[in-house]
Amino acid sequence: MAQEVRGVIAPGKDEPVRIETIVVPDPGPGEAVVRVQACGVCHTDLHYKQGGINDDFPFLLGHEAAGVVESVGDDVTDVAPGDFVILNWRAVCGTCRACLRGRPWYCFDTHNAEQKMTLTDGTELSPALGIGAFAEKTLVAAGQCTKVDPAVAPEVAGLLGCGVMAGIGAAINTGDVGRGDSVAVIGCGGVGDAAIAGSRLAGAARIIAVDIDDRKLETARSMGATHTVNSRTTDPVEAIRDLTGGNGADVVIEAVGRPETYKQAFYARDLAGTVVLVGVPTPDMKIELPLLDVFGRGGSLKSSWYGDCLPSRDFPMLIDLHLQGRLDLGAFVTETIALDEVEKAFERMHRGDVLRSVVVL
Ligand SMILES: NC(=O)c1ccc[n+]([C@@H]2O[C@H](COP(=O)([O-])OP(=O)(O)OC[C@H]3O[C@@H](n4cnc5c(N)ncnc54)[C@H](O)[C@@H]3O)[C@@H](O)[C@H]2O)c1
Ligand SMILES: [Zn+2]
Ligand SMILES: [Zn+2]
Repeated sequence: MAQEVRGVIAPGKDEPVRIETIVVPDPGPGEAVVRVQACGVCHTDLHYKQGGINDDFPFLLGHEAAGVVESVGDDVTDVAPGDFVILNWRAVCGTCRACLRGRPWYCFDTHNAEQKMTLTDGTELSPALGIGAFAEKTLVAAGQCTKVDPAVAPEVAGLLGCGVMAGIGAAINTGDVGRGDSVAVIGCGGVGDAAIAGSRLAGAARIIAVDIDDRKLETARSMGATHTVNSRTTDPVEAIRDLTGGNGADVVIEAVGRPETYKQAFYARDLAGTVVLVGVPTPDMKIELPLLDVFGRGGSLKSSWYGDCLPSRDFPMLIDLHLQGRLDLGAFVTETIALDEVEKAFERMHRGDVLRSVVVL
């Protein structure tokens, strides 16, 4: 029997979000229905609402979630009803060319639920990142459920499902930050701060936080930044070079997703250094660079999709580090809110008032 639950949809480009009744089918083969306990508000949800990802409205928003598996399809063996899980948007297929080459974190054919959740009039919903968890329950592929230690609070665990994993992974997986490295992080929202926390975890010696908002820089310091630069008032490229013996940082992580900040990242790294783009640009954005600089500065220019994470490997490990007191994931939760406060949370995110608002159900 399909169930009816409440969920937050984005009905059309730039229209305010609203709560609707969502029809959640019973899980079919390879699927699971999860009772959502908490779901963070990520900038990517706002991109969906603004039409910046694609035009497949209406969207069922929300994708940084944790909850308890309620039911599973016939053939599902990896998770069972009652399991505490973080939802991921990288249920790897095991058979695409990336998976077959032993690089499943690039999987090009990740699984989502086959069946569609709908409105009561039958309108099919597009779940954000194949999850759609601003809802009391959601239908996902069973592989999107990653079991973790249930000792962690859901509002903390859920954040690993997207932004915090993207940021930590941008540092430790994509950027391969290591002991003694110098790192600069441009943009210190939830993702950038997670990159800072990840760099600290990996043993970076110098971690330079760059933002245009002093409040964000203050939080960045508590996450592990050793130096801060307000790029509204100070040239960040010069400042980063000054703080690294005139050389630039070994790894610069761009966590805004804009051409001007990418350019800063490009020029703020040391020769043969690494730039990691984890911020997501919009389709209209372009960048022009002298090709000679691309060649002459060497190193690598990388993008980080979801922190190059492998959920089954990284989620339980990071939750364990959190429970041992070695990674303060709780610091990312600015406030917990109700399902009907998502629109307000977007406004607060836009004003830069929060790191993460988390819907608790
Ligand atoms: N690659 C991935 O897999 C992935 C996953 C999740 C989110 N993201 C993306 O990461 C980016 C950041 O997400 P978030 O949730 O942290 O957003 P956020 O809005 O919380 O943070 C953005 C930060 O950038 C700062 N900023 C804005 N303009 C700036 C500028 N010109 N110079 C320096 N700082 C500036 C803001 O003050 C803010 O602190 C978004 O583009 C989001 O879509 C990527
Ligand atoms: Zn694959
Ligand atoms: Zn996200």
